[in-house]
Amino acid sequence: MNIRRLAASELPPMELLLDADPSREMVDSYLRKGETFVAEVDNQIIGVYVLMEKQEDSTEIMNIAVANEKQGQGIGRKLIQHAIDYTRNNGFAKLQIGTGNSSIGQLALYQKCGFRIVGIDFDFFLRNYPEPIIENGISCRDMIRMEIILQED
Ligand SMILES: CC(C)(COP(=O)(O)OP(=O)(O)OC[C@H]1O[C@@H](n2cnc3c(N)ncnc32)[C@H](O)[C@@H]1OP(=O)(O)O)[C@@H](O)C(=O)NCCC(=O)NCCS
Repeated sequence: MNIRRLAASELPPMELLLDADPSREMVDSYLRKGETFVAEVDNQIIGVYVLMEKQEDSTEIMNIAVANEKQGQGIGRKLIQHAIDYTRNNGFAKLQIGTGNSSIGQLALYQKCGFRIVGIDFDFFLRNYPEPIIENGISCRDMIRMEIILQED
């Protein structure tokens, strides 16, 4: 598997991106501002993440998705490790990610990768998404903000 940056001339894997974030408007907005990386096997895109510079010292994974049939094989972890290395190598001190209160597997994965919870954006999903989101039988309301410190000041 190869992870590489998507060129501006290439189409992003929209189906995968919308699997992680149902808002086309939000996806389009961070695709314009961020860098998109894809995981490929035999020239087939099987994973994606979008990284955006947030403040002077931090980047955020705005979207991460692995093709359904390839999930649970460690590809998500590899994409996150790639984002950690890229962020550190480009001199940023922190990597952030946000996920829904109902995203139990994602919360587990991100903590296994070293992210810690640093805040809660209450009612984020109620404010920003027109349709209710139910996952694992839980109403998705709040954005759990998570962070990894890569360089101490
Ligand atoms: C989230 C996603 C990117 C993860 O990718 P993946 O390739 O399936 O993830 P991996 O196989 O690398 O890792 C999954 C890890 O999470 C852990 N995990 C998942 N659900 C878990 C749960 N309920 N409890 C404990 N651990 C859990 C697995 O055990 C595994 O950990 P391990 O490596 O220690 O075994 C993928 O599932 C996906 O695309 N989901 C749909 C889109 C999405 O929700 N994106 C994120 C939006 S915030």
